[in-house]
Amino acid sequence: MALYLKAAEILEKAERKQGALKTLVYDSKFGNIKQLFALVCETQKFSPILQELIESTKLLKQTKLRLHLAMVLVYDLLMGQGLKCGGSWKVTMMKHRSRLQAELARMKVKQKVSKNEDLLPASVQRPAGDHLPRYVRVNTLKTTVEDAVDYLKRDGFSYQGQASRLDDLTLKGKEFVRDLHLPELLVFSPKTDFHDHFLYKAGHIILQDKASCLPAYFLNPPPGSRVIDACAAPGNKTSHLAALMKNKGKLFAFDLDAKRLTTMSTLLLRAGVTCQQLANQDFLKVDPDSAQYRDVEYILLDPSCSGSGMVCLRDDTSADQEKDRARLASLASFQLKCLNHGLRFPSLKRLVYSTCSIHSQENEEVVTACLQQNPGFRLVPLLAQWPERGLEPLTQCLRASTAKTRTHGFFVALLEKHSEAGSTKQGQPGQMSDPETIALAPPACEKTPEASEMEDKPTPAADEVNSRQTDTTPGKKKRRKRKKKAATAE
Ligand SMILES: C[S@@+](CC[C@H](N)C(=O)[O-])C[C@H]1O[C@@H](n2cnc3c(N)ncnc32)[C@H](O)[C@@H]1O
Repeated sequence: MALYLKAAEILEKAERKQGALKTLVYDSKFGNIKQLFALVCETQKFSPILQELIESTKLLKQTKLRLHLAMVLVYDLLMGQGLKCGGSWKVTMMKHRSRLQAELARMKVKQKVSKNEDLLPASVQRPAGDHLPRYVRVNTLKTTVEDAVDYLKRDGFSYQGQASRLDDLTLKGKEFVRDLHLPELLVFSPKTDFHDHFLYKAGHIILQDKASCLPAYFLNPPPGSRVIDACAAPGNKTSHLAALMKNKGKLFAFDLDAKRLTTMSTLLLRAGVTCQQLANQDFLKVDPDSAQYRDVEYILLDPSCSGSGMVCLRDDTSADQEKDRARLASLASFQLKCLNHGLRFPSLKRLVYSTCSIHSQENEEVVTACLQQNPGFRLVPLLAQWPERGLEPLTQCLRASTAKTRTHGFFVALLEKHSEAGSTKQGQPGQMSDPETIALAPPACEKTPEASEMEDKPTPAADEVNSRQTDTTPGKKKRRKRKKKAATAE
């Protein structure tokens, strides 16, 4: 009920130009922002069709529902996942379902199309690239990739082997592959739904976009280490970190939002995570020098952001650009504060910073400002063969997008300490390292058991993010020398 009321309220406000859709969704403080996004975006996309259906069936007159509420209900009933409410609304909508379905069918016949999407004008229809694959991270705290693949094969899925190029991620029906970049990631066709699947319910698999698996994968904290997940809820990256740590060590996870932390506890329980310590606390107020945290060596920082990388939010038609600019500036200032705070932990070796934003203000600009203020840290060049880099000169960082990486829009930077007490002033961030030093892992061998959640083996020095990968590029000797130097510095 709350979901539909909130979605209707946001659609009405957006129509009255009281704010951009994405801003209204973020500002709503709704418990499940993703679910709300999806419903609001899809309802808005189909609104001309929904309004025609509502008018032609005289739904408002017969039900006394308000237009926007009727739109979200009709959307979910006919085009979405089915109504997620009970009570009088469900009774009302079920009473009118056949007439609504018949009217929708009539519209399709009239326009000679078979899919709901095809009723939309071509300008609104999703480009093919927006049909993102369904990514599934195997939770190595509970199973292995091999066992998950075997189970899925027995369950009727058709395993196509290891992907070797992005095109291999274009899958149909029940086909699936192992990802070309992340060893614990399986990739399915876009519509594959695992919500009722045993492996999902038992916590053996985690439904997580590929880009969102990158931060923990790069941070790669070894088992036994002390790690902070600074803005952790709802906890997919936390469970990925725990898997990498093999549940050994201590994983401190903070979040300001108590409700999201509750969801997170459930998720972690299902995933078999036991090394965590959750706190409903402002990360900015965590004392880096306290006995509890002074040994922390790894931090994952995935702070609140505009969410502009999320595919369904790409509504560039902001009603209030001034407000959007102010919001971005305020988010960037918060993100920089968090980043600077993270770098204050005295034993810190590495910090990974990520956002699901495509705005440079929240990404490269935040990282650049932070590096200027913290000369003892430098960027680690990430996966040389990843198809999309951070904007110049921060090409050590990664970006992700629907078009280039078949994921939601995302940004990741890995910072490592490179001198004692931050005394060494570094050069321009973009000139610090040679991205070539980090070769991409060769396609993971199907038979090799992997560690948990796409993160991976313990690596003491930054350059070693890449050292688990086979170096086949020229200049190997020089690079080995550099690696040795980095290890000594640490
Ligand atoms: C992008 S989400 C994190 C998603 C999470 N890393 C994951 O993968 O599931 C950002 C989170 O930061 C939390 N947050 C915002 N400000 C915070 C602060 N000052 N301290 C701790 N958490 C904060 C929000 O409540 C929100 O849950």
